[in-house]
Amino acid sequence: MDYAKGKNNLASIRLTRYILGYKAYIYRLIKAFIISIKVFPAVFAEPSSYGVGEINFKGDGVISTRPKISYGESFELAWSKALKNKTSKEFHRFHYCRHRAALYSFGASIAQNRFPDMEMVECGVWYGLLANFTLERFKQRGINQKFNLIDLFGINTESYKVIGEKKKEYEDQSIYKAVQERFSEHNVKIHQGFIPDVFKSEAIRRINHVSFLSCDLNNVKAETDAFNYFEPKMPIGGILYIDDYGCQGYESTKEFYDIFFKDKFIPLKSLHSSCLAIKVKN
Ligand SMILES: C[S@@+](CC[C@H](N)C(=O)[O-])C[C@H]1O[C@@H](n2cnc3c(N)ncnc32)[C@H](O)[C@@H]1O
Repeated sequence: MDYAKGKNNLASIRLTRYILGYKAYIYRLIKAFIISIKVFPAVFAEPSSYGVGEINFKGDGVISTRPKISYGESFELAWSKALKNKTSKEFHRFHYCRHRAALYSFGASIAQNRFPDMEMVECGVWYGLLANFTLERFKQRGINQKFNLIDLFGINTESYKVIGEKKKEYEDQSIYKAVQERFSEHNVKIHQGFIPDVFKSEAIRRINHVSFLSCDLNNVKAETDAFNYFEPKMPIGGILYIDDYGCQGYESTKEFYDIFFKDKFIPLKSLHSSCLAIKVKN
């Protein structure tokens, strides 16, 4: 009888010790459960995934609940215009790109401030969400920045099918006209053609000083061609924006740019896909 009682006591002591030892884990488990309950209904319910309830940011596989960021009214106005003005499709889902737009325009602003007389270039435009947002922000500040947009704009998409993943949404032939209209209020030159062939055009050969270069081509071959062509035209202090740098599935793009990050550029690696870098050496 006593023996059995002693055995029971020992078992309950072990259990108490086990529970106390794992208290921290149990506490975390409960916390994680509560956060999930709070966060996930909002994640599923809201297609624009930013600034909803407790969720500050959801995108690129990242969810953060703190701290709250507010970009301000003029930012929201420019972003809403970039997203919705003459975009024929359902662009609501691109709300998550807001942090990319913030990074992009931050880089472009530094470049504009340092080299106000130079041109800016974007390779990989589509409807030009990031460029449109940035030029709108410049316009709000009375800046008339010279900008070049280079893309296939829906034509000959077969030409890069073999190199990269071809997405149906890039094939729409109405993109070119939409882009012309979307950028009509800005100091923009639109160059339609395949990179690198399009670089032979007179209009592109004329571009000699580039303060800001954005590459967002979704394939490393075109990224390499674009960077190799425009990088020598950038001054020390010029800014490079790479949209796919940290993106899952674009590891070769990162590998390509990492070569230049050894000494020619200093990158500001972001937690998310995009990366901003400053040129420090010719
Ligand atoms: C991700 S989208 C660009 C998105 C854009 N930066 C924005 O702000 O929304 C990629 C674009 O790269 C273009 N593209 C890919 N390879 C190309 C090439 N070799 N020459 C020209 N354009 C190319 C596609 O036509 C597509 O519009």
